[in-house]
Amino acid sequence: MVGPPIEDIHFDDAPHVGEFPGPKGRDLLERQEAIDSNAVAYPDHIPLVPDAAKGATIKDVDGNVFLDMFAGIGVLNVGHANPYVMEAVHEQADKLVHTVDFPSEPRLDLIEKLEARAPGDLAGNSKVVFGGPTGSDAIEAAIKLAKYNTGGHGLIAFRGSYHGATSGAMSITGKKDFKEPYAPLLGDVEFAPYPHPYAQDRPPEEAVARSLEEVRAIVEDPYSGLTNPAGIFVEPIQGEGGVVTPPEGFLAGLREIADDNDLPLVVDEIQAGLGRTGQWWASDHYDVTPDIVTTAKALGGVGFPLSATIYHEDLDTWGPGDHAGTYRGHVVAMRAGSRAIEYIEAHDLLAHARDLGAHVRERLRDVNAPLVGDVRGKGLFVGAEFTNPDGTPAADAVKAVQRYCYERGVLVWKAGPHGNVLRLLPPLVLTEAQADTALDVICEAIDHVTAERGATA
Ligand SMILES: Cc1ncc(COP(=O)(O)O)c(C=O)c1O
Repeated sequence: MVGPPIEDIHFDDAPHVGEFPGPKGRDLLERQEAIDSNAVAYPDHIPLVPDAAKGATIKDVDGNVFLDMFAGIGVLNVGHANPYVMEAVHEQADKLVHTVDFPSEPRLDLIEKLEARAPGDLAGNSKVVFGGPTGSDAIEAAIKLAKYNTGGHGLIAFRGSYHGATSGAMSITGKKDFKEPYAPLLGDVEFAPYPHPYAQDRPPEEAVARSLEEVRAIVEDPYSGLTNPAGIFVEPIQGEGGVVTPPEGFLAGLREIADDNDLPLVVDEIQAGLGRTGQWWASDHYDVTPDIVTTAKALGGVGFPLSATIYHEDLDTWGPGDHAGTYRGHVVAMRAGSRAIEYIEAHDLLAHARDLGAHVRERLRDVNAPLVGDVRGKGLFVGAEFTNPDGTPAADAVKAVQRYCYERGVLVWKAGPHGNVLRLLPPLVLTEAQADTALDVICEAIDHVTAERGATA
């Protein structure tokens, strides 16, 4: 057996909350506020002070135990401190940690595993480059690779996108206030509309057609304004943008435009990939083979920083050192990544994510609260969009739901340009019983917030 079954890898009394943040938690929060950067953001949303974590559960410094329905924002796909992964981590950490890009068994094993599981025709025909450890680094590598191979510089991206916090990644990110202080970033980036499945004024096919028409015009219209395009950059499901799950035909349409114009299609699987959606890659749901795939987050197994850019071998035109980075050889992270892949397969977690995700969405739809305008996602990548009766985004309701859940020991997160999407991305090792316990609280929270709003209307 590859590690213990998913039922056995959690603290068994979650959720279990008393006073929180308790005295130790308050002390650390105060210390953090005094000395840490103003850029710290997560504790502003929920004052969680983690001390230990197992599977889909987190214990805080005062002994409260939470059910984790966001997994470090999609990092801990096989759960916190998964024992099968940790066994290899301990062994490897005592032996060899850093190798730049000298060969090591863990490095080559992971490359082989990624190559074998790469989406569509990339499987068996791909190369993997490790640069820096973050998702943003993988995006930078993808931008460089696209430019290097095409000789172009224009980048096509999408409204609502999030690709990271470095300059290149911010350039193709939609969020204006996030990047505005640093403008100008990369020149020549054009943003097309991302087709939203929840567009009340038009059917989904129309949203797809409109988006594809825009992309084709940006690339092909002689008066589009974008010279010399280098590639199309897209999230197969927009994560930060609000778990926006595009209708059928969108990715396939982008593939066609990219092929017609000899452009690489770059699919950013940093949040959606590595089993999150119930397939190895979200693009697998749409039967589309990208030219370049970026991955990070869950790649380091149990939270080690590791990213990679997987690309068709025909694009492997770089010479030695043409893409570099000191941390391109974190052997412990690579070993952890391989073990996580093995654990996912041995425990059939792709099917589990598909089944449990469908169950989670069904329960959210059953709440039958007018506030919840749309429930969407694939596998255990779940979004519920909250809207007011007049159609405006109900961000305050999502905030209230998050707080209500936190106070009852269930951790949920938010997304969307207006913060009005409740985002669930639990570890794939979440059991059905845990999911139901969490959903009892989440559904109760939605009912509670709905009733409160009714009372003040
Ligand atoms: C789709 C996507 N791309 C890129 C990134 C950037 O990754 P990182 O924060 O590791 O730089 C993120 C982070 O949330 C992401 O969701």
